[in-house]
This record gives sequence, structure tokens and C-alpha cells, in this order.
Amino acid sequence: MPAKDVLVIGLGYVGLPLAVQAARAGFRVTGYDTRPEVTGGLMAGRSHVDDVTDAEVAGMLAQGFRAVCDEALAGTADVIVICVPTPLSVADGPDLSAVKAATATAGRLLRAGTLVSLESTTYPGTTDEVVRPLLEKASGLSAGIGFSLAFSPERIDPGNPEYGLRNTPKIVGGVTPSCADAAADFYGQICDQVVRAKSAREAEMAKLLENTYRHVNIALVNEMAIFCRELGVDLWDAIRCAATKPFGFQAFYPGPGVGGHCIPIDPNYLSYKVRTLGYPFRFVELAQEINGRMPGYVTERAAELLNRNAQALNGARVLLLGVTYKRDIADQRESPARPIARKLRRRGAAVAFHDPHVAQWQVDDVIVPRADDLDAAVAAADLVILLQPHEAYDLARIAGTARLLLDTRGAMPAAAHVEAL
Ligand SMILES: NC(=O)c1ccc[n+]([C@@H]2O[C@H](COP(=O)([O-])OP(=O)(O)OC[C@H]3O[C@@H](n4cnc5c(N)ncnc54)[C@H](O)[C@@H]3O)[C@@H](O)[C@H]2O)c1
Repeated sequence: MPAKDVLVIGLGYVGLPLAVQAARAGFRVTGYDTRPEVTGGLMAGRSHVDDVTDAEVAGMLAQGFRAVCDEALAGTADVIVICVPTPLSVADGPDLSAVKAATATAGRLLRAGTLVSLESTTYPGTTDEVVRPLLEKASGLSAGIGFSLAFSPERIDPGNPEYGLRNTPKIVGGVTPSCADAAADFYGQICDQVVRAKSAREAEMAKLLENTYRHVNIALVNEMAIFCRELGVDLWDAIRCAATKPFGFQAFYPGPGVGGHCIPIDPNYLSYKVRTLGYPFRFVELAQEINGRMPGYVTERAAELLNRNAQALNGARVLLLGVTYKRDIADQRESPARPIARKLRRRGAAVAFHDPHVAQWQVDDVIVPRADDLDAAVAAADLVILLQPHEAYDLARIAGTARLLLDTRGAMPAAAHVEAL
């Protein structure tokens, strides 16, 4: 007998698409979020997440979906899914306060037979060592006997038109085999394929392995980009050639730095856990160092390019194109555009930005002027820096109008005044 009531705790980039998919699969879905603007917007039919349309929210509401910001209105559920943020603390360690608060909520709402699934990315052991005792204490029930507890990492790729929640295999790891059964049964109804991990720990590690793999490989090409230029090698072309190998190679590309949640933040959770063993996770720390240096490198390259044109960065009008962390989405979390704007401003540049997905942008509480007329802004800038090649950009047209252009994505057509990172 399938579970019928699903409560999603945390209605952000992960929780909202999950709520949509669960509603589509026929579950009665309630969403609980502590931010009233989120729940109020959803109840008014407005989505605040790139991958969910207003029409999808309207569809869910028509099916009985409710978004509440008062825990007392959440009701009980057969399945409770926790999708709250896992940021870093001031000391760059894991900040599990939202996970603990959401677990406390789940503990209060839990009843015999409930499945609790944690989707927030975290270090291996969190489900078993942090979430489980809190739930058991709050409910007086035991995991695997009175209720089920599992970890199921979210693997969404915001803005990806091909792979969404439904057709991306879903990993589930239970704290006991019966917990894994319950989680596999639930996710099997909303995803095409469920992959069972040996336990919650392996499921937690699988997500961190995926993120660390990307982090390290991006750092590899970023480091190569810096020395390839000095060696007179076009790395973009080398990657294009290497990527023709049908096995054993996956292409990663250099860029202005890493953004979003998965790459710059999540691997810290793993290095934190490794440090408890008394030694560092050197690959992650090196990747962090290399990727973290890219905004500074972009700023240096901007200064150099202007210098070759007998101009100084100090006083130059610099236009940043695309300030989100990824193309074709509005999410700005950890976007490298921010440190780049900060560094350019510190060196005296007059920085403006254009982004079809961002209406207003502030760096260090100072508003960055937004260029509304793209053509005019590109023509007026001393230097244009392409940070995000959004679909909406006509790159050939931009390259045709710009006086000087630094292309951090290798996306622009070659020209004398255009330089790739
Ligand atoms: N965004 C992604 O692409 C992505 C992909 C994979 C995994 N993740 C992971 O999923 C988790 C959630 O990320 P996200 O991007 O959805 O974050 P988000 O910030 O978009 O959404 C989280 C939501 O949780 C709410 N919240 C915080 N504390 C709460 C509480 N105690 N009770 C109820 N609601 C609460 C916030 O108000 C917010 O709306 C993180 O661990 C993240 O690393 C994110």
C-alpha cells in the first residue's frame, strides 16, 4: 500500500522540484518552509526556483498542495523529506543547524511507520549519528522498527533540460535494510530508477564523491589554463581533441571559478570529516585553493588585456556579462562574479553588469549598475568580460561590438580583440 501524505521540509532548489514530482506521482503533498515569503509566494502560485514553473505550482495547488510556514499546520505524514541548506560555519566547517532544526520538526511530527528521508548534502555518518538519535529521542520510536530513516542525495542539475528528478537515477541508503526498502518504495514511485546503497553512509559518500570529482577536475583544467597560456598552448583546443576519445576521458572546462552549492561548499563537508581522522583530504584542499584563485586570475588577465591596449584597469569601464553561477539560471549563490566584481572595483574599475536572469545585483552591499541596453553597454565598455554564456546572448554580435573582450568560457568566436582565459 503506497504512502499517501508527503511532507517536504525546505522548499528551495531541491525541495520544490521534489514536491512537484511527488504531487505528479499522486501523493498529497505539504511543504513546510520557515520563510513566509517562500510559502506565501507558492500559495499565490509563484515559483521562486528556476526549474519549477508557475504553471507547475498552480497544478500542485489544484491537486491540494499546501505550503505552510507554521510547523503546527504541517500535519503528520507518511513520508517526511528534509531538503534544508547545509552551509559552512564561520570556521568553514559544516553548519548542520538547519538539518537539526528540520529533524526536530520531523521528530515532533513523526508517527509509527513514517519514512524520514534526508536529502541535504552532508558528511558520511550524519543520518546515522546526528539525525537518527534526534528522531528517536523526539518520537520514542526506534529507526528500523518504529519508523524508517534513509539518506537520498539530491542530484539535480539546475537548468538541465534533459535530466531532472524523474529520469536521474535516485540513490537511497537506509540506516537498516528495512529502512532502505521503505525509501526505495517511495522513490520508486517518483523516479524511474532507484539505486540502493549499502547503507546511508555510502549514499552520503556517493554524493560527495560526485561533487568532489567535479571540483577536482575543474581545478585540473583551471591550473592547466594558466600554464598553457604561458606555454603558448590553446587548452580549449586540446580539450576538444582529447574529448574525441570515446572512453576514459570526460571533458571539463576552465572558467572564472566555481559557484553554486555543490562544488565550492559540499566537498568541505568531506574534508572536515577526513580531518577528524587526523590528516587532510589533500585533493579537495588543493582544488579549493586552485579554483578559489580563479577570480583573482581573471582580474589579472583583465588588467593585462587593458594594458596591452594602453589602458589601465583603474578608471576603465568594465562590463560583466552573466553573473549567475551557471548558465541559463538565476541562482547567484557563490557565483565567482562576486569576487571578480569586488577585485575589479578595488583596483579602480567602474564595473557594470548585464544578466537577463538578474534584475538587481549588489556586491558588498553596494549596487552594481545594471546595463539594460546590452548593445549600447557592450559598445561603451572599455572591456567586456564574459562570465556566463547565457542562451539569450548573441555571442557573435557581442564580439562584433565589443572593443576588448575577455572570454572566460571559451565560447566566443576568435578575433584579435577577443581573448580566451
Ligand atoms: N541547489 C542544488 O542544485 C542542489 C543540488 C544537490 C544538492 N543540494 C543540497 O540540498 C540541500 C538544500 O539545498 P537547496 O539548494 O534546496 O537550498 P535552498 O536554500 O534553495 O532551500 C532550502 C530551503 O529550506 C528552508 N529552510 C531552512 N531551514 C529550515 C527549517 N528548519 N525548516 C523548514 N525549512 C527550512 C529555507 O528557507 C529554504 O527555502 C543542501 O544541502 C544542498 O547542498 C542542492
